[in-house]
Amino acid sequence: MKSFKEKVAVITGAGSGMGRYLAVLLAKDGADVVVCDVNEETLNETVEMLRKYNVSVSSHILDVADKEAVEALPEKVIEQHGKVDLVFNNAGVTTGSHFKDMEEDNWDWVMDINFGGVINSTRAFIPHMIDRPEAAIVNTSSIFGMVAVPGQTAYHATKFAVRGFTESLAMEMADTNPNLQIHCVHPGHVGTNIAANARFDEEEFNNQVEERQNSIFTRGAPSTIEEMGNQFREGGMHPSKAAEIILNGVKKNKRRIFIGLDAKLLDLSQRLFPKHYHKTWPLFMPLMMIFRDKKQLKSLD
Ligand SMILES: NC(=O)c1ccc[n+]([C@@H]2O[C@H](COP(=O)([O-])OP(=O)(O)OC[C@H]3O[C@@H](n4cnc5c(N)ncnc54)[C@H](O)[C@@H]3O)[C@@H](O)[C@H]2O)c1
Repeated sequence: MKSFKEKVAVITGAGSGMGRYLAVLLAKDGADVVVCDVNEETLNETVEMLRKYNVSVSSHILDVADKEAVEALPEKVIEQHGKVDLVFNNAGVTTGSHFKDMEEDNWDWVMDINFGGVINSTRAFIPHMIDRPEAAIVNTSSIFGMVAVPGQTAYHATKFAVRGFTESLAMEMADTNPNLQIHCVHPGHVGTNIAANARFDEEEFNNQVEERQNSIFTRGAPSTIEEMGNQFREGGMHPSKAAEIILNGVKKNKRRIFIGLDAKLLDLSQRLFPKHYHKTWPLFMPLMMIFRDKKQLKSLD
């Protein structure tokens, strides 16, 4: 796909982070954008950012876990924009808890949004996209869909599932409908609100502060939940840069889109050492620190 001009793009989780900048960069490239999020306030902020572009914009307050609401969306989009060319299944959440201590509600919350949401949306949109001359479904997994760390069982379960689902779907479509590109996105650390919005059990969090601060995965971890959210948002790659990498990946029809040196190195570690990759991370970490992306907003003019 050479250009997004005059395409119609649907983006879930567009009220923040990568979803917001996917919407902005697509509008900048001349696509009509349909932004969806469960958070009305932040969704409206995204809509405000889109005003300066000369494209058609519609917004929907949508919970991707709500199957019926997602099923009803394609018709609304087609009514307003005439077609659907691109769907970015980007909405995602996490919970920080060890499995034995995790509340079942939190497990279900992550599963229903991160995996259920991708399935609901893909199922709803595919029939409207298979006959488009050029189309793409872009599902966001994570580098945590390639490697695992402790304390993220629910998140890993969903992100490995998104990857498996997406790779199988890509093979199916390549055989039957190669005009419909299927992509799986694997970001490393991107500085967004995902950690600030994560569900934590405060007592468990406080009990594990010391353990986290001594672990190679979370060394230097903050001692409060709020601090953790802020530290996560302020570190990592800027979400505008991540969105640009995703869109370039779609233009180049890359099935797997890795974001950031951290994601690429972690992926390399699991290819080279499939069973013991985490033992190699102390070697990779200094490289990630030296070469990590400087957090800078991409120019949006
Ligand atoms: N930030 C990272 O480091 C990172 C790394 C790997 C993967 N990811 C993935 O990238 C995607 C985007 O996350 P982000 O980092 O930009 O986070 P973010 O928190 O900044 O944005 C996620 C958006 O999804 C929305 N959302 C949450 N639940 C929803 C629901 N039920 N229905 C609709 N929208 C909902 C939120 O309101 C928010 O606007 C997620 O799938 C996430 O798992 C992020």
